[in-house]
Amino acid sequence: MVAHVLVFPFPAQGHLNSMLKLAELLYLSGFHITFLTTEYDHHRLCLHSPAHSRLSRLPGFWFRSISDGLPDQQPRSASRLIELYNSLTHNSSSLFRDFLNSNLSQSQDAGWSRITCLVVDGVMPFAMDAATDLGIPTITFRTSSPCSIWTYFCLPKLVEAGEYPFPEGADLDERVYAVSGMESFLRRRDLPSCFREARDVSDPRLDVVYMVTVSTTRAKGFILNTFEAMDSTVLSHIRTVCPTTYVIGPLHCMLQNMRSRMLSNTQSGETSSNSANLWQEDRSCLPWLDKQPKGSVLYVSFGSFTVITNEDLMEFWHGLVNSGQRFLWVIRPDLVNGVEDGEGQPTSVPPELEAGTSERGYLVAWAPQEEVLAHPSIGCFLTHSGWNSSLESAVSGVPMICWPFFADQHTTSRFVSEVWKIGLDMKDKHGREIVETIVRDAMEGESAQELRRSAAAMAEKARESIAEGGSSYLDFQTLVRYIKSTDQ
Ligand code: UDX
Repeated sequence: MVAHVLVFPFPAQGHLNSMLKLAELLYLSGFHITFLTTEYDHHRLCLHSPAHSRLSRLPGFWFRSISDGLPDQQPRSASRLIELYNSLTHNSSSLFRDFLNSNLSQSQDAGWSRITCLVVDGVMPFAMDAATDLGIPTITFRTSSPCSIWTYFCLPKLVEAGEYPFPEGADLDERVYAVSGMESFLRRRDLPSCFREARDVSDPRLDVVYMVTVSTTRAKGFILNTFEAMDSTVLSHIRTVCPTTYVIGPLHCMLQNMRSRMLSNTQSGETSSNSANLWQEDRSCLPWLDKQPKGSVLYVSFGSFTVITNEDLMEFWHGLVNSGQRFLWVIRPDLVNGVEDGEGQPTSVPPELEAGTSERGYLVAWAPQEEVLAHPSIGCFLTHSGWNSSLESAVSGVPMICWPFFADQHTTSRFVSEVWKIGLDMKDKHGREIVETIVRDAMEGESAQELRRSAAAMAEKARESIAEGGSSYLDFQTLVRYIKSTDQ
């Protein structure tokens, strides 16, 4: 019998992207795969994801969906995330149990194999509990940055040390010392956003984050999308609480490598089919990039969830145009506050910025980001510091300007600037003059060259980790051996 892995991501772009890549890697390693999404996201994957249409044709790779419990027309944006989370926990939990039960009771003759292992997004402990009750071994996967996950683990130590909660009107530049391994550089403002949003330790947002983090220790194993050379100190701390931690990233490169080793017909033009897009990619930016000089373009994207005010958008736009640099900018139709229906209207160019934007800029609603970052014309990435985006940039040797908005992004941006030294952090300051200056510093002169050298060195370490015998390559083999054993 072939081991059958059920992969169940949280329904959001950054989670779907990395977990679908893991699912394909496991499929190529010889397992049957069921990839479970919500009906809402499944519909969007069918419309926009080339990876979905490719993988759904493979024998032994099944896409299945359950309801997230919300009405179809309700936005699933960042500002309503807690509603989605609560609905999944309360409404989808029993649907998930039914799904598992029906799988286990089906006849093997129906061409359907029994699930032997669950790889679940670590933010959904209800799924781990259901699988454990039915005797299915579970491995959790966290799609966030390992540095942020370690700060969540340290919440009790922060409280015990009197460093959290912060006093009213606290200076966010004050350092915190209770997060082991980060004593020399972590400030209050670098903790994940829930630490500053919560008023006290009993705030439900902190409660959820801590409960979810600690639940990972109950699983048979813990998967992180990073590589040893990037996160060695943080990983050594995480392993004190999760000894069986598989460090198998960057997953998108692991997959590219494995596909080109195994599938002789994989051509470079096929790379876009690796993405679990919830939006339609606009590939017209690639020929535009082909026409720009090497290293001359700033790529700007705020990921899949971020929502900003129109005022911030305009300030940023002025700074970008005033910097005089070329730019490729992803403006999602639902990027601006108040337009949260997932589709929205394209943002129109303000008249005073029309000339600068059309001369040096190119706007798209959704880009083929991995290909964009690998393009030689890209000189820097102005990012919201989502973990997938940060890894994709690091692997391509592209320095970053970090404008973090929420969750793990505040901690990741501190690591980019202070630990890995592959970018600049504009956290909590984003007026037009600041944007103009930071963009110039990252694109021109000796400071830019220094960042490019560090970013190139980090990219080299990433390549070593995924090559045969590298740390991620070997950890992935260990994971595969464990999953094979679930079939006995
Ligand atoms: C957020 C968090 O910040 C992240 O750290 C967490 O793990 C998941 O939730 P998100 O805002 O989606 O994620 O950002 P990110 O993790 O960077 O993922 C975005 C993904 O969308 C990336 O894989 C990126 O390649 C892709 N993308 C983004 C595109 O393919 N095209 C685009 O135009 C923009």
